[in-house]
Formats: sequence, C-alpha cells, structure tokens
Amino acid sequence: MNNQPKATEKDYSIYFQPPSLKEAKKRGKEEVKVHYDFSIPESLKGFGEGKFYMIRTYGCQMNEHDTETMKGMLDLMGFQSTEDKLEADVILLNTCAIRENAEDKVFGELGHLKSLKAEKPSLILGVCGCMSQEEAVVNRIMQKHPFVDMIFGTHNIHRLPNLLQDATFSKEMVVEVWSKEGDIIENLPKRREGVRAWVNIMYGCDKFCTYCIVPYTRGKERSRRPQDVLAEVRDLARKGFQEITLLGQNVNAYGKDFEDIEYSFGDLMNDIHKIDIPRVRFTTSHPRDFDDHLIKVLSQKGNLMEHIHLPVQSGSSQILKKMSRKYTREGYLELVRKIREAIPDVVLTTDIIVGFPGETDEQFEETMSLVKEVGFDSAFTFIYSPREGTPAAAMKDDVPESVKKERLYRLNELMTELSKKSNDKLLGQVVEVLVEGESKTNPDVLSARTRTNKLVHFAGTRDLIGKRVHVRVVETQTWLVKGELVPDSVRTAI
Ligand code: SAH
Ligand code: SF4
Ligand code: F3S
Repeated sequence: MNNQPKATEKDYSIYFQPPSLKEAKKRGKEEVKVHYDFSIPESLKGFGEGKFYMIRTYGCQMNEHDTETMKGMLDLMGFQSTEDKLEADVILLNTCAIRENAEDKVFGELGHLKSLKAEKPSLILGVCGCMSQEEAVVNRIMQKHPFVDMIFGTHNIHRLPNLLQDATFSKEMVVEVWSKEGDIIENLPKRREGVRAWVNIMYGCDKFCTYCIVPYTRGKERSRRPQDVLAEVRDLARKGFQEITLLGQNVNAYGKDFEDIEYSFGDLMNDIHKIDIPRVRFTTSHPRDFDDHLIKVLSQKGNLMEHIHLPVQSGSSQILKKMSRKYTREGYLELVRKIREAIPDVVLTTDIIVGFPGETDEQFEETMSLVKEVGFDSAFTFIYSPREGTPAAAMKDDVPESVKKERLYRLNELMTELSKKSNDKLLGQVVEVLVEGESKTNPDVLSARTRTNKLVHFAGTRDLIGKRVHVRVVETQTWLVKGELVPDSVRTAI
C-alpha cells in the first residue's frame, strides 16, 4: 500500500488490472492470505472532517454488508453520512450485476448524477460493487460516463480511504479493480445499525452455475478462519445484538478450502449454537453441499432458527443439469424430506429462475409441481437474464419474452397462494417475535419477525424495540401477519 503513486504527482497513473472471465475459470488453489493489520492511515483520519457521504446500495446482503464496512471506514475518516444527495460531498454506488435490470438501474442513476456533478465539481462520485468487476462495465463507464471519479472492485474495498484521497486530488478517473482475489482482510471497521447484524463467513463462489455472474465478480471461494468468525459473533453478543445472519454465496461450502483443519459449516453452526446470541440465521444454502451433519446441528434449534433459504432454481432435472446446479429434482426433494424429518416446523423459502435457455412448457410445469410439492413459504422469482461471459449466455435462448413473462406470472400467483395458506396456519397461534422497529407507515405499530422470518405487525410501544416478545396472530395477509402482544411476555434484550 505504501508504494502507490502519490495523487499529487504529475505522472499520476491509473492502475488497473481488468477482470478476466476466462482467467477466473482457471483459478487454482492459491493460498488464501488473511491480513490482520488493517488500519486507516493517520494522515487520512481527519480527511472527511466537515464533509458528508451517501452510499446507494443495490443487490444482495453481501453488498449491504460491504456498505456497512465502507461506512465504518468513512466514519473513521471523519465523514458524516447523509441521505440527501445535494448535501453529499462523496456519493458511492455499490452496484449489483446479477441481472440486466440491476445494471440498468445504476446506469440510470449515473445519468441523474451527471448534472449534480456539473453543478458541484468538487463532488466525488464512485462506482464500486459487483458491476465494477466486469470489464465491459468499466470500459463503458470510462467512455460514456467520464465524470465518474473513481471505480473500485469488490476485492479493493479496504482501499477506499486511499482511493478517495487519490480521487480528490487527481484530475483523472481513479480505477482500481483487482483480479487478485485470494485475500481476506480482517478487522475492517463496520457501522452496524439496529438489533440485527450480518457476519461474513466466507467470500466468493466456486460453483459456476452457468447463468451466474457472481463467481466472476466476487472471486474464488474462501472461508474466514473459524476463530475470527466466532470472535466477531461473541463481540456482537456482548454488544447486545439480538440476531446475526451469517453470509456467504454458498455457506454450506464453508471450510472446504481449509487445508490445515477439518471444520465444516455444521461445525461452525454447532459452535455458534453455544454462544449467547438469541437468533442465528444464514444465507444462502446451496442444496448440493447441505450435509446430514448440518441437518443434525440445526435440529437442536435453540438460537438456530427453523428457517432455511434453499434456492432450487428449477424443478426440472434437465434444466438443473444445464444450469450446472449438480443436483436433480429427486435429490432436492430427498434433501427437503430429510430436513423436514429432522425439523418438522421448518419454513423453507427459495429462489427460482424461469425462462432459462431452452426451457420447455413441460419443464416449467415441473417447477410448478415441485413448488407445490415442497410448499415453499415464499420465493424470489426471476426471469432469466443473460450475463455476458457466462456459459448460459452462449446457449440458444429460444423462449419468447411473452412466454417468460407468462411463466413468471403463473409462478407468482402460485407463490401468493402458498404464502397466504402458510400464514393462515398461524391464525390464533402465539409466536415469539423479535421487535425490529416501528412499521414504515404507522409509528404506533411495531414491526417484528418470527423465528421463521415472517413479518408481524402489532400495536406496541417503542421500548419493545430490540426485545423478544410473544404475540397472538389475529389476522393474516399474504406478506405479513397481524398480532396482539401477549402481556408479560417480554424477554429482555440484553
Ligand atoms: N448464491 C446464491 C444465489 C445468489 S444470486 C445461491 O446459489 O443460492 C440470487 C439469485 O439470483 C439466484 O439464486 C438466482 O435465482 C438469481 N439469478 C442469478 N443469476 C441470474 C440470472 N442470470 N438471471 C436471473 N436470475 C439470476
Ligand atoms: Fe451464483 Fe451458483 Fe454461486 Fe449461487 S452458487 S452465487 S447461483 S454461481
Ligand atoms: Fe448482486 Fe453481487 Fe450480490 S452481483 S446479488 S451484489 S454478489
């Protein structure tokens, strides 16, 4: 970090190693280096004094959590946060590349920010996150949006303080996107809010599902050392957090990259089970690596919630094969059977893609029948979106757009029906909820979640926020249930 060119030097150069999709596929078992020496350089600690930043976050929880890390660093530099873009001195777009419409939103926002930048030339505009790892996107920004001041990738987040300094003094766009992806940076500051916290347990993805851009934008699979994860969880427990969600693109592959120890996701969950933090969740589980040990550990319940997000993507074994998901319809159903046997009240949710290249009507009907058979409580449903450089993008996409839309519509209708049905089952029951805050529309109504992650609204006072209470479900809707507080049921938060 010390030998970076000084921003004030005339011969300031853009340092840029473009990401290569072909190379990503070849990545081997290079050693994962864990760095424990992160700190904000002394000279940059007052850099943001009197200045404001705004970060707009797109995409998944991984990105949300990266935003918390960036906020942590900016806070330590003396910046203050704002939600008002007119007030902001730094605006960062933390982007998502998962589908075309995610990228369109960012390019749309850049269009709006152009005039803001013209009015306030001192404004620093940065693009980071998954889109910055795509060569085509970086080139497009450099050519069509030259007013952007900085672009940095998902492996360079810890470099934000230095890059911000460079961008402030440089007349050229600062671009730093590392293809190198073997490192884990510990001890990054994080600005967490509320009673729930995200905890990264691993980075990257090695599954290379044929439709997916993530293995390229997030790099190879690498797990944080168990002692680092456990120390972070203990620290969050001490600080009074009520719920943690362990994050990884495929948490069930946790530990598979350790060469010196045998330690799996099941082992990690078992150790976290013993820590005094009330609620533990995780996302996302790939069905392929979901083993019996993990099922057994989860069946102990306690602080391990009986909700599993288990993306199936398709109910057709042929489509699953083309997606390279490495399991069949039958294999998935067998896994669900085993999970239900061990945890009878488990709630399962999923992700589904419709209109994958070549998907026939019959194959789509297999998805519909699988959804009914499993009885998911809810699902994120998507129309397939070709991503440049992925194997599926080269497959013949012969499903007409209207058919894709029709399939999505039918699937969503089915999911609405299933969600309502499963909520109806709660009617009259008393459930434990964690109160997260006031509802968005009415300050007298509190918003809470059941152990199974269902949204519950009930009338209550602000002092209940951060506490676990019992409510009786009195009314059900499709996406939420309404309840009444059971008196004397408050379980203290800390
Ligand atoms: N790692 C997670 C998924 C992360 S991406 C997993 O494997 O379960 C979240 C979801 O986006 C995926 O589950 C998939 O349903 C969807 N998705 C990914 N790529 C897509 C694409 N090219 N088109 C449409 N949906 C996609
Ligand atoms: Fe994408 Fe598949 Fe990895 Fe999930 S497991 S991030 S869908 S490649
Ligand atoms: Fe999007 Fe990157 Fe997450 S592509 S879904 S933000 S890992």
